[in-house]
Amino acid sequence: MPQFEFRQSAILPANPPPIVSIGLGGIVHDAHYPAYQIAGFEVVGGFDINGERAAMMRDKFNIPQLYDSLSQTIALAPEDAVFDIAVPGSAIANILRGIPRGRAVLIQKPMGEDLAEAGQILRICREQELVAAINFQLRFAPFVIAARDMIEQGLIGELYDMEFRVQCNTPWRLWPFLFPLPRVEILYHSIHYVDLVRSFCGSPRGVHAKTVSHPSAPDLRGGARSMIIMDYGENPRVNVMTNHSHVYGAEKEQSYVKFEGSKGAIQIRAGLNMNYPEGVPDRFEYILLDDRDDPSWRTLDIKGSWFPEAFIGAMASLMRYVNGETNSLPTSVEDAIQTMATVEAAYESSQQGGAPLPQV
Ligand SMILES: NC(=O)c1ccc[n+]([C@@H]2O[C@H](COP(=O)([O-])OP(=O)(O)OC[C@H]3O[C@@H](n4cnc5c(N)ncnc54)[C@H](O)[C@@H]3O)[C@@H](O)[C@H]2O)c1
Repeated sequence: MPQFEFRQSAILPANPPPIVSIGLGGIVHDAHYPAYQIAGFEVVGGFDINGERAAMMRDKFNIPQLYDSLSQTIALAPEDAVFDIAVPGSAIANILRGIPRGRAVLIQKPMGEDLAEAGQILRICREQELVAAINFQLRFAPFVIAARDMIEQGLIGELYDMEFRVQCNTPWRLWPFLFPLPRVEILYHSIHYVDLVRSFCGSPRGVHAKTVSHPSAPDLRGGARSMIIMDYGENPRVNVMTNHSHVYGAEKEQSYVKFEGSKGAIQIRAGLNMNYPEGVPDRFEYILLDDRDDPSWRTLDIKGSWFPEAFIGAMASLMRYVNGETNSLPTSVEDAIQTMATVEAAYESSQQGGAPLPQV
């Protein structure tokens, strides 16, 4: 059996422009900056409305300059800087209004709190001709890059089925801003899977979904468990099942994405969800039915993980587009709004409820 080689890492820009951060919270600490350190991307300045937080981040990551306000950030940022926005979804539109025409911005997901806000963000980006992408970094996780390479080489044949299952104990208290929100699980978590599916299969015709809270976390009213069926007709079958309130120990925790095709299958454990944000090791397994020697499950060694390496690809993709090194910006706001539309359909479906039982 030949040992296959698959692409696992994002293509880096030849000359990375400088980065200016707006929002210096948990995700910047856990993933953005560790990723940029690996990739050699330079952060030249940052701003957070919480001055103490900003100072902590400056000391930890040697940010050369902290700004006192959004207007100062925009005035002092180098002309060619990419603005790296990582704030709650509701704060994005106001920040974008201040960004000068034609500048580059990478915006943390979600693209606003609902489709109406996403539309507002899209309009601002269009009016100000911003080169804007949403940070749907799961598309650039090394295990996803490898799976995509394998699928594009035709090794698993026609894609029939994609399935996500997450059963873990998610520390929601890390994000106090989520608690009062009406939409949480799909909008802030499963959105990664919805977006990833779209990157492989395009937008679905429709969505069936149910999202509910959990008795152990009634104050998280925006949902801690979801079931989402993305409807593509007969093929592919796609579903996402998440339960973030699995408090029964690590042994039965699960976090995987599975791809099944006419000639093989891939199953990836995304360990990040199982002990967030440190994670447990990922596992990439695949089977190729055409393998005459031994059509059995094999593992592929993957270097890097969702945190932080996926965040290299999200930024690199925008930088390469800005530099003219590529014509494609996969997570542009123009594409990302379709992910937001899919999420909107999921909430509408959940609200409508299932088909009522006929009278007997
Ligand atoms: N894998 C992922 O893609 C991932 C994971 C976690 C969080 N996120 C996203 O990142 C965003 C931030 O999440 P977090 O975990 O860092 O939350 P956080 O609460 O730790 O940090 C948010 C930071 O933004 C700052 N802030 C808020 N409004 C601001 C404004 N107007 N200008 C400047 N700073 C402002 C806050 O002071 C805070 O420091 C969220 O939208 C979340 O969805 C993405």
